[in-house]
Amino acid sequence: MRQAGRYLPEYRVIRARHDFLTMVRTPELASQVTLQPVDRLGVDAAIIFSDILVIPMALGMTLSVEEGVGPVLHRPLRSERDIGRLRPFDPEGELSYLLDAIRMTRAALGGRVPLIGFAGAPWTLAGYMVEGAGTREWRAIKRLIAEAPATAHRLLDLLTEAVGRTLVAQAAAGVQVLQIFDSWAGALAPRDFDRFALPYLARAARSVRATGLPVIVFAPGADWALESIAKETGADVVSIGWHTRPAEARSRLASFDVACQGNFDPAWLYSDPDVIRERVREMIAEFGVQGYIANLGHGVLKDTPVEHVQEFVSAVQGWKSSGSERSERSEKSEAGLT
Ligand code: CP3
Repeated sequence: MRQAGRYLPEYRVIRARHDFLTMVRTPELASQVTLQPVDRLGVDAAIIFSDILVIPMALGMTLSVEEGVGPVLHRPLRSERDIGRLRPFDPEGELSYLLDAIRMTRAALGGRVPLIGFAGAPWTLAGYMVEGAGTREWRAIKRLIAEAPATAHRLLDLLTEAVGRTLVAQAAAGVQVLQIFDSWAGALAPRDFDRFALPYLARAARSVRATGLPVIVFAPGADWALESIAKETGADVVSIGWHTRPAEARSRLASFDVACQGNFDPAWLYSDPDVIRERVREMIAEFGVQGYIANLGHGVLKDTPVEHVQEFVSAVQGWKSSGSERSERSEKSEAGLT
Protein backbone atom coordinates (compact mmCIF):
# COMPACT_ATOMS: atom_id res chain seq x y z
CA MET A 1 0.00 0.00 0.00
CA ARG A 2 0.97 3.63 -0.22
CA GLN A 3 3.42 4.25 2.61
CA ALA A 4 5.04 7.54 1.56
CA GLY A 5 3.11 10.77 1.91
CA ARG A 6 2.22 13.82 3.88
CA TYR A 7 1.92 12.10 7.26
CA LEU A 8 5.74 11.89 7.18
CA PRO A 9 7.43 15.16 8.26
CA GLU A 10 10.40 14.47 5.97
CA TYR A 11 8.00 14.04 3.02
CA ARG A 12 6.39 17.40 3.81
CA VAL A 13 9.83 19.06 3.75
CA ILE A 14 10.40 17.92 0.15
CA ARG A 15 6.76 18.49 -0.81
CA ALA A 16 6.98 22.11 0.40
CA ARG A 17 9.64 22.72 -2.26
CA HIS A 18 8.28 20.61 -5.15
CA ASP A 19 4.85 19.70 -6.40
CA PHE A 20 3.82 16.07 -6.39
CA LEU A 21 4.36 15.52 -10.12
CA THR A 22 7.82 17.05 -10.03
CA MET A 23 8.66 14.60 -7.25
CA VAL A 24 7.31 11.68 -9.29
CA ARG A 25 9.20 12.77 -12.41
CA THR A 26 12.55 13.54 -10.76
CA PRO A 27 14.32 10.23 -10.08
CA GLU A 28 16.52 11.65 -7.28
CA LEU A 29 13.45 12.95 -5.41
CA ALA A 30 11.33 9.85 -6.08
CA SER A 31 14.14 7.66 -4.84
CA GLN A 32 14.69 9.77 -1.75
CA VAL A 33 10.99 9.66 -0.85
CA THR A 34 10.78 5.90 -1.46
CA LEU A 35 13.43 5.39 1.21
CA GLN A 36 11.74 7.57 3.84
CA PRO A 37 9.31 4.95 5.21
CA VAL A 38 12.07 2.34 5.11
CA ASP A 39 14.39 4.53 7.18
CA ARG A 40 11.77 5.92 9.54
CA LEU A 41 9.51 2.91 10.05
CA GLY A 42 11.69 -0.10 9.34
CA VAL A 43 9.10 -1.62 7.00
CA ASP A 44 10.11 -4.89 5.33
CA ALA A 45 9.70 -3.66 1.75
CA ALA A 46 9.94 -0.42 -0.19
CA ILE A 47 7.38 0.60 -2.83
CA ILE A 48 8.64 2.88 -5.57
CA PHE A 49 7.35 6.44 -5.25
CA SER A 50 5.20 6.97 -8.33
CA ASP A 51 1.50 6.85 -9.14
CA ILE A 52 -0.91 4.69 -11.08
CA LEU A 53 -1.69 7.75 -13.22
CA VAL A 54 1.74 7.82 -14.88
CA ILE A 55 0.31 5.50 -17.57
CA PRO A 56 -2.45 7.93 -18.63
CA MET A 57 0.24 10.65 -18.71
CA ALA A 58 2.49 8.48 -20.89
CA LEU A 59 -0.50 8.03 -23.22
CA GLY A 60 -0.67 11.80 -23.62
CA MET A 61 -3.19 12.90 -20.99
CA THR A 62 -2.45 15.88 -18.75
CA LEU A 63 -2.49 15.20 -15.02
CA SER A 64 -2.55 17.67 -12.19
CA VAL A 65 -2.71 16.86 -8.51
CA GLU A 66 -4.51 19.66 -6.78
CA GLU A 67 -4.48 20.46 -3.10
CA GLY A 68 -7.70 19.21 -1.52
CA VAL A 69 -9.00 17.86 -4.84
CA GLY A 70 -6.68 14.94 -5.58
CA PRO A 71 -5.53 13.89 -9.04
CA VAL A 72 -7.29 15.33 -12.10
CA LEU A 73 -6.86 14.12 -15.69
CA HIS A 74 -7.74 16.92 -18.07
CA ARG A 75 -9.96 16.43 -21.15
CA PRO A 76 -11.30 13.04 -20.01
CA LEU A 77 -12.02 10.44 -22.70
CA ARG A 78 -15.66 10.17 -23.65
CA SER A 79 -15.69 8.72 -27.16
CA GLU A 80 -13.96 6.50 -29.67
CA ARG A 81 -12.38 9.63 -31.15
CA ASP A 82 -10.91 10.69 -27.81
CA ILE A 83 -9.37 7.24 -27.43
CA GLY A 84 -7.98 7.47 -30.96
CA ARG A 85 -6.08 10.58 -29.90
CA LEU A 86 -4.00 8.74 -27.28
CA ARG A 87 -0.30 8.46 -28.04
CA PRO A 88 1.32 5.13 -28.89
CA PHE A 89 2.69 3.71 -25.65
CA ASP A 90 6.43 3.76 -25.09
CA PRO A 91 7.39 2.99 -21.46
CA GLU A 92 11.16 3.23 -22.02
CA GLY A 93 10.72 6.74 -23.46
CA GLU A 94 7.74 8.24 -21.62
CA LEU A 95 8.36 6.54 -18.28
CA SER A 96 12.15 6.76 -18.25
CA TYR A 97 11.92 8.82 -15.02
CA LEU A 98 10.23 5.89 -13.29
CA LEU A 99 12.76 3.35 -14.57
CA ASP A 100 15.65 5.63 -13.52
CA ALA A 101 14.08 6.08 -10.08
CA ILE A 102 13.90 2.28 -9.74
CA ARG A 103 17.57 1.81 -10.68
CA MET A 104 18.63 4.55 -8.31
CA THR A 105 16.51 3.19 -5.47
CA ARG A 106 17.80 -0.36 -5.87
CA ALA A 107 21.34 0.98 -5.61
CA ALA A 108 20.48 3.12 -2.57
CA LEU A 109 18.72 0.24 -0.80
CA GLY A 110 21.78 -1.95 -1.22
CA GLY A 111 19.67 -5.06 -0.67
CA ARG A 112 18.28 -3.89 2.69
CA VAL A 113 14.69 -4.66 1.68
CA PRO A 114 13.04 -5.64 -1.61
CA LEU A 115 11.61 -2.98 -3.91
CA ILE A 116 8.01 -3.25 -5.14
CA GLY A 117 6.98 -1.87 -8.53
CA PHE A 118 3.34 -1.29 -9.40
CA ALA A 119 0.72 -0.19 -11.90
CA GLY A 120 -3.00 0.47 -11.89
CA ALA A 121 -5.22 -2.23 -13.37
CA PRO A 122 -6.88 -1.53 -16.75
CA TRP A 123 -10.37 -1.04 -15.27
CA THR A 124 -9.18 1.46 -12.64
CA LEU A 125 -7.08 3.40 -15.16
CA ALA A 126 -9.97 3.48 -17.64
CA GLY A 127 -12.15 4.80 -14.81
CA TYR A 128 -9.81 7.71 -14.11
CA MET A 129 -9.30 8.44 -17.81
CA VAL A 130 -13.04 8.56 -18.55
CA GLU A 131 -14.15 10.29 -15.33
CA GLY A 132 -11.17 12.65 -15.17
CA ALA A 133 -11.06 12.42 -11.38
CA GLY A 134 -12.20 10.39 -8.40
CA THR A 135 -15.99 10.08 -8.20
CA ARG A 136 -18.71 8.62 -6.01
CA GLU A 137 -21.07 7.45 -8.75
CA TRP A 138 -18.72 6.47 -11.59
CA ARG A 139 -21.34 7.88 -13.93
CA ALA A 140 -19.14 8.57 -16.99
CA ILE A 141 -17.31 5.24 -17.05
CA LYS A 142 -20.49 3.28 -16.31
CA ARG A 143 -22.27 5.19 -19.02
CA LEU A 144 -19.50 4.28 -21.44
CA ILE A 145 -19.69 0.55 -20.66
CA ALA A 146 -23.49 0.63 -20.93
CA GLU A 147 -23.77 2.80 -24.03
CA ALA A 148 -20.68 1.89 -26.01
CA PRO A 149 -19.24 -1.37 -24.65
CA ALA A 150 -17.07 -1.93 -27.73
CA THR A 151 -15.37 1.42 -27.13
CA ALA A 152 -14.83 0.55 -23.48
CA HIS A 153 -13.32 -2.80 -24.45
CA ARG A 154 -11.00 -1.08 -26.90
CA LEU A 155 -9.74 1.26 -24.19
CA LEU A 156 -9.36 -1.62 -21.71
CA ASP A 157 -7.47 -3.63 -24.30
CA LEU A 158 -5.07 -0.81 -25.00
CA LEU A 159 -4.53 -0.27 -21.26
CA THR A 160 -3.89 -3.96 -20.65
CA GLU A 161 -0.98 -3.86 -23.04
CA ALA A 162 0.32 -0.64 -21.46
CA VAL A 163 0.05 -2.04 -17.92
CA GLY A 164 1.83 -5.28 -18.86
CA ARG A 165 4.64 -3.47 -20.65
CA THR A 166 5.07 -0.98 -17.79
CA LEU A 167 5.41 -3.78 -15.26
CA VAL A 168 7.86 -5.72 -17.44
CA ALA A 169 9.94 -2.54 -17.89
CA GLN A 170 9.94 -2.02 -14.10
CA ALA A 171 11.10 -5.62 -13.65
CA ALA A 172 13.94 -5.04 -16.10
CA ALA A 173 14.91 -1.88 -14.19
CA GLY A 174 15.20 -3.89 -10.97
CA VAL A 175 11.98 -4.13 -8.93
CA GLN A 176 11.63 -7.45 -7.12
CA VAL A 177 7.85 -7.68 -6.68
CA LEU A 178 5.00 -6.40 -8.89
CA GLN A 179 1.69 -5.14 -7.54
CA ILE A 180 -1.43 -4.31 -9.56
CA PHE A 181 -4.00 -1.96 -8.00
CA ASP A 182 -7.59 -2.36 -9.17
CA SER A 183 -8.76 0.29 -6.73
CA TRP A 184 -12.09 0.87 -8.49
CA ALA A 185 -13.08 -2.81 -8.61
CA GLY A 186 -15.89 -2.13 -6.14
CA ALA A 187 -17.62 0.20 -8.59
CA LEU A 188 -18.92 -2.70 -10.65
CA ALA A 189 -21.73 -5.19 -10.19
CA PRO A 190 -20.37 -8.76 -10.20
CA ARG A 191 -21.37 -9.56 -13.78
CA ASP A 192 -19.83 -6.33 -15.02
CA PHE A 193 -16.66 -6.93 -13.02
CA ASP A 194 -16.46 -10.30 -14.79
CA ARG A 195 -16.70 -8.59 -18.19
CA PHE A 196 -14.92 -5.26 -17.81
CA ALA A 197 -12.38 -5.71 -15.03
CA LEU A 198 -11.39 -9.30 -14.33
CA PRO A 199 -10.35 -10.45 -17.83
CA TYR A 200 -8.09 -7.43 -18.25
CA LEU A 201 -6.66 -7.66 -14.73
CA ALA A 202 -5.97 -11.35 -15.39
CA ARG A 203 -4.33 -10.68 -18.75
CA ALA A 204 -2.13 -7.94 -17.27
CA ALA A 205 -1.10 -10.19 -14.37
CA ARG A 206 -0.40 -13.18 -16.60
CA SER A 207 1.54 -11.10 -19.11
CA VAL A 208 4.20 -10.47 -16.45
CA ARG A 209 4.62 -14.12 -15.37
CA ALA A 210 7.68 -14.42 -17.62
CA THR A 211 9.56 -11.96 -15.39
CA GLY A 212 9.49 -14.66 -12.71
CA LEU A 213 8.66 -12.03 -10.08
CA PRO A 214 5.93 -12.48 -7.48
CA VAL A 215 2.71 -10.69 -8.41
CA ILE A 216 0.33 -9.10 -5.90
CA VAL A 217 -3.20 -8.20 -6.95
CA PHE A 218 -5.44 -5.78 -5.04
CA ALA A 219 -9.11 -5.35 -5.92
CA PRO A 220 -10.76 -3.70 -2.90
CA GLY A 221 -14.54 -3.72 -2.68
CA ALA A 222 -14.87 -6.81 -4.88
CA ASP A 223 -14.45 -9.35 -2.11
CA TRP A 224 -17.16 -11.54 -3.61
CA ALA A 225 -14.66 -12.14 -6.46
CA LEU A 226 -11.76 -13.41 -4.33
CA GLU A 227 -11.81 -16.92 -5.78
CA SER A 228 -12.10 -15.79 -9.38
CA ILE A 229 -9.36 -13.22 -8.86
CA ALA A 230 -7.03 -15.90 -7.49
CA LYS A 231 -7.95 -18.34 -10.22
CA GLU A 232 -7.93 -16.02 -13.23
CA THR A 233 -4.93 -13.84 -12.37
CA GLY A 234 -2.67 -16.64 -11.08
CA ALA A 235 -1.37 -14.05 -8.58
CA ASP A 236 1.07 -15.11 -5.87
CA VAL A 237 -0.53 -12.79 -3.34
CA VAL A 238 -4.07 -11.49 -3.09
CA SER A 239 -4.21 -8.24 -1.19
CA ILE A 240 -7.31 -8.07 0.97
CA GLY A 241 -9.13 -4.76 1.44
CA TRP A 242 -10.42 -3.77 4.86
CA HIS A 243 -14.03 -4.59 3.89
CA THR A 244 -13.29 -8.29 4.12
CA ARG A 245 -13.03 -10.51 7.20
CA PRO A 246 -9.57 -12.10 7.29
CA ALA A 247 -10.91 -15.53 8.26
CA GLU A 248 -13.37 -15.45 5.39
CA ALA A 249 -10.67 -14.48 2.87
CA ARG A 250 -8.51 -17.29 4.18
CA SER A 251 -11.14 -19.96 3.99
CA ARG A 252 -12.29 -18.94 0.53
CA LEU A 253 -8.73 -18.89 -0.78
CA ALA A 254 -7.67 -22.09 0.99
CA SER A 255 -7.74 -24.20 -2.16
CA PHE A 256 -5.56 -21.75 -4.11
CA ASP A 257 -1.81 -21.48 -3.84
CA VAL A 258 -1.88 -17.81 -2.83
CA ALA A 259 -0.68 -15.78 0.10
CA CYS A 260 -2.81 -13.01 1.62
CA GLN A 261 -1.84 -9.43 2.34
CA GLY A 262 -3.69 -6.85 4.39
CA ASN A 263 -5.98 -5.64 5.74
CA PHE A 264 -5.86 -3.15 8.60
CA ASP A 265 -8.28 -0.26 8.07
CA PRO A 266 -5.89 2.72 7.85
CA ALA A 267 -8.44 4.91 9.64
CA TRP A 268 -7.76 2.85 12.81
CA LEU A 269 -4.23 4.26 12.80
CA TYR A 270 -5.89 7.32 14.32
CA SER A 271 -6.66 5.33 17.44
CA ASP A 272 -4.63 5.02 20.61
CA PRO A 273 -1.39 3.00 20.25
CA ASP A 274 -2.77 0.38 22.67
CA VAL A 275 -5.80 -0.05 20.46
CA ILE A 276 -3.59 -0.32 17.36
CA ARG A 277 -1.53 -3.03 19.04
CA GLU A 278 -4.63 -5.01 20.03
CA ARG A 279 -6.18 -4.73 16.58
CA VAL A 280 -2.93 -5.81 14.92
CA ARG A 281 -2.82 -8.82 17.24
CA GLU A 282 -6.38 -9.75 16.28
CA MET A 283 -5.69 -9.29 12.58
CA ILE A 284 -2.62 -11.52 12.61
CA ALA A 285 -4.36 -14.15 14.71
CA GLU A 286 -7.21 -14.20 12.23
CA PHE A 287 -5.03 -14.44 9.13
CA GLY A 288 -2.45 -16.79 10.67
CA VAL A 289 1.20 -16.16 9.87
CA GLN A 290 1.64 -18.80 7.18
CA GLY A 291 1.65 -17.21 3.70
CA TYR A 292 0.73 -13.86 5.13
CA ILE A 293 2.01 -10.29 4.62
CA ALA A 294 0.80 -8.02 7.42
CA ASN A 295 -0.18 -4.71 5.90
CA LEU A 296 -2.83 -2.05 5.79
CA GLY A 297 -6.00 -2.65 3.80
CA HIS A 298 -5.42 0.65 1.92
CA GLY A 299 -2.85 3.48 1.85
CA VAL A 300 -1.93 5.57 4.90
CA LEU A 301 -4.29 8.53 5.34
CA LYS A 302 -2.62 11.88 5.12
CA ASP A 303 -2.95 13.26 8.65
CA THR A 304 -2.15 10.02 10.47
CA PRO A 305 0.25 10.55 13.39
CA VAL A 306 3.56 9.07 12.31
CA GLU A 307 4.08 7.46 15.76
CA HIS A 308 0.90 5.48 15.19
CA VAL A 309 2.23 4.10 11.91
CA GLN A 310 5.42 3.19 13.80
CA GLU A 311 3.27 1.44 16.40
CA PHE A 312 1.63 -0.64 13.66
CA VAL A 313 5.02 -1.69 12.27
CA SER A 314 6.48 -2.54 15.65
CA ALA A 315 3.36 -4.47 16.65
CA VAL A 316 3.71 -6.57 13.49
CA GLN A 317 7.44 -7.04 13.88
CA GLY A 318 7.04 -7.76 17.60
CA TRP A 319 4.72 -10.60 16.73
CA LYS A 320 7.49 -12.29 14.74
CA SER A 321 9.66 -12.74 17.78
CA SER A 322 6.98 -13.56 20.35
CA GLY A 323 6.57 -17.31 20.42
CA SER A 324 3.65 -17.28 22.84
CA GLU A 325 1.21 -15.61 20.48
CA ARG A 326 1.69 -17.79 17.44
CA SER A 327 -1.44 -19.08 15.82
CA GLU A 328 -2.23 -22.74 15.58
CA ARG A 329 -1.84 -22.44 11.84
CA SER A 330 1.84 -21.44 12.06
CA GLU A 331 2.61 -24.00 14.74
CA LYS A 332 1.25 -26.66 12.48
CA SER A 333 3.29 -25.41 9.57
CA GLU A 334 6.43 -25.32 11.67
CA ALA A 335 5.77 -28.90 12.60
CA GLY A 336 5.48 -29.65 8.88
CA LEU A 337 1.77 -30.40 9.08
CA THR A 338 0.52 -28.04 6.37
O1 CP3 B 1 4.51 4.72 -0.78
C1 CP3 B 1 4.78 5.05 -1.93
O2 CP3 B 1 5.77 5.72 -2.25
C2 CP3 B 1 3.85 4.55 -3.01
C3 CP3 B 1 3.44 5.53 -3.96
C4 CP3 B 1 2.01 5.53 -4.43
C5 CP3 B 1 1.34 6.75 -4.68
N1 CP3 B 1 0.15 6.45 -5.29
C6 CP3 B 1 1.87 8.09 -4.37
C7 CP3 B 1 0.91 9.20 -4.15
C8 CP3 B 1 1.17 4.48 -4.82
C9 CP3 B 1 1.38 2.98 -4.70
C10 CP3 B 1 0.00 5.08 -5.38
C11 CP3 B 1 -1.08 4.30 -5.98
C12 CP3 B 1 -2.33 5.00 -6.32
N2 CP3 B 1 -2.51 6.28 -6.75
C13 CP3 B 1 -3.59 4.35 -6.33
C14 CP3 B 1 -3.82 2.88 -6.03
C15 CP3 B 1 -3.82 2.58 -4.60
C16 CP3 B 1 -5.05 3.07 -3.90
O3 CP3 B 1 -4.91 3.99 -3.08
O4 CP3 B 1 -6.14 2.54 -4.16
C17 CP3 B 1 -4.55 5.30 -6.72
C18 CP3 B 1 -6.05 5.09 -6.82
C19 CP3 B 1 -3.86 6.51 -7.00
C20 CP3 B 1 -4.42 7.81 -7.49
C21 CP3 B 1 -4.10 8.90 -6.55
N3 CP3 B 1 -2.91 9.59 -6.56
C22 CP3 B 1 -4.92 9.44 -5.53
C23 CP3 B 1 -6.30 8.97 -5.19
C24 CP3 B 1 -4.19 10.48 -4.92
C25 CP3 B 1 -4.67 11.44 -3.85
C26 CP3 B 1 -4.22 10.95 -2.52
C27 CP3 B 1 -4.24 12.10 -1.49
O5 CP3 B 1 -4.11 11.74 -0.31
O6 CP3 B 1 -4.37 13.28 -1.85
C28 CP3 B 1 -2.92 10.53 -5.55
C29 CP3 B 1 -1.81 11.42 -5.21
C30 CP3 B 1 -0.71 10.71 -4.48
N4 CP3 B 1 -0.12 9.57 -4.97
C31 CP3 B 1 -0.06 11.10 -3.28
C32 CP3 B 1 0.97 10.18 -3.07
C33 CP3 B 1 2.02 10.20 -1.99
C34 CP3 B 1 -0.38 12.35 -2.43
C35 CP3 B 1 0.33 13.49 -3.10
C36 CP3 B 1 0.62 14.67 -2.26
O7 CP3 B 1 -0.24 15.59 -2.23
O8 CP3 B 1 1.71 14.80 -1.71
